[in-house]
Amino acid sequence: MNLSKFGEKFTRKAGITQLMDDLGAAMAGGDMLMLGGGNPAHIPEVQQCFRKRMEAILAEPSGFESMIGNYDSSRGNAMFIEALAGMLRETFGWDVSPENIALTNGSQNAFFCLFNLFAGEMPDGSKKKILFPLTPEYIGYANAGLTDNFFAAQRPNIELLDDGLFKYHVDFDALEIGDDIGAICVSRPTNPTGNVLTDAEMLHLDALAEDRGIPLIIDNAYGTPFPDIIYTEAKPMWNENTVVCMSLSKFGLPNLRTGIVIAREEIASAIADINGVMHLALGGIGARMAIDLIRSGDIMQMSHEIVQPFYHRKALQALDLFREELGDVPCRIHKPEGALFLWLWFQDLPCTNVQLYERLKARNTLIVPGHHFFPGLEHEYWQHKHECIRVTYAQDDDIVREGIKVIADEMRKLYQT
Ligand SMILES: Cc1ncc(COP(=O)(O)O)c(C=O)c1O
Repeated sequence: MNLSKFGEKFTRKAGITQLMDDLGAAMAGGDMLMLGGGNPAHIPEVQQCFRKRMEAILAEPSGFESMIGNYDSSRGNAMFIEALAGMLRETFGWDVSPENIALTNGSQNAFFCLFNLFAGEMPDGSKKKILFPLTPEYIGYANAGLTDNFFAAQRPNIELLDDGLFKYHVDFDALEIGDDIGAICVSRPTNPTGNVLTDAEMLHLDALAEDRGIPLIIDNAYGTPFPDIIYTEAKPMWNENTVVCMSLSKFGLPNLRTGIVIAREEIASAIADINGVMHLALGGIGARMAIDLIRSGDIMQMSHEIVQPFYHRKALQALDLFREELGDVPCRIHKPEGALFLWLWFQDLPCTNVQLYERLKARNTLIVPGHHFFPGLEHEYWQHKHECIRVTYAQDDDIVREGIKVIADEMRKLYQT
């Protein structure tokens, strides 16, 4: 097969592809302990709510037929967008109207569009990059650029905390934002670490972006007002220079592929234009299923009262279990402040994290080796990248418990030898 540069680039085995392959295989059955991928949990109250919502749509005259039989526009379901703009205005006082919002087929797709809007080859022939001011960062960003050398990234400052915890911070002293940076991007809460950048860090990044005349992209896939998987105080922010990306996936609809971009009008319109070219129209079932929850505000209440406590309990339980099982294995865990993951740092790990991944896979336990989570630092040697792993605690308690036992057992063996 003669492939174009595009073809070659996008058929390279990306970390995200391996992760999704493993996830697909594990979800298809078998006895794998799935502590690897980021599939959100099946929370009974949330699933019950959507089951009822689907039944209501089926009972509406032409409800089912219009849901499956009509295209939405390339910007996405207009009524959903209007309801969401209203909710954001009322809840946060953000000055947003429907013109500031565009939907995408999952937020993963939003990042592809946004990154390639602001970086790559510019009309004057110059090249620009997306900057991740703090890595580790979301594995799904890597490979999302249409050209090579697409990302720049920064190592974090590491704050050692009590009780075997640690926390990453943006190293503002080292942060360089040259003319070759087209936009800054952070996930908050961060996948893979569960870090929540502080309000001060966000304001600082916002000021730097504004000063350079480039957008600050905030990946809010786990943040407020939904799904609100965030265990600390964190002020949400939006202004004309920020692009906030959200998703219905982690609230419970990952398979309905509904991403949301909130940005100044020209950016939201650009996303709708790209949607038209790439997808013609968007899959609208997610918006249809969630619209009443948005209109009533129930999505925020459910997020706060059901989704967030569900994951918080699981985070604390997984943390306790690791501490108990690991004993004196030299391991620090990133302070879990949100999202669905624990990020473990095994200092002086006696093998690479890929070997560890293979050893655990041979014991039917899946984790994700940490070095995948350094987009922009792929070619930089840093031992820390090879000493970390990501473990999800979203699966059923028994699976998480059993998986943690296997991981701890393997680690004890490794350090003993
Ligand atoms: C930080 C982050 N951003 C974006 C996404 C993409 O999610 P989706 O495309 O399902 O909206 C994920 C999925 O795991 C994620 O963890």
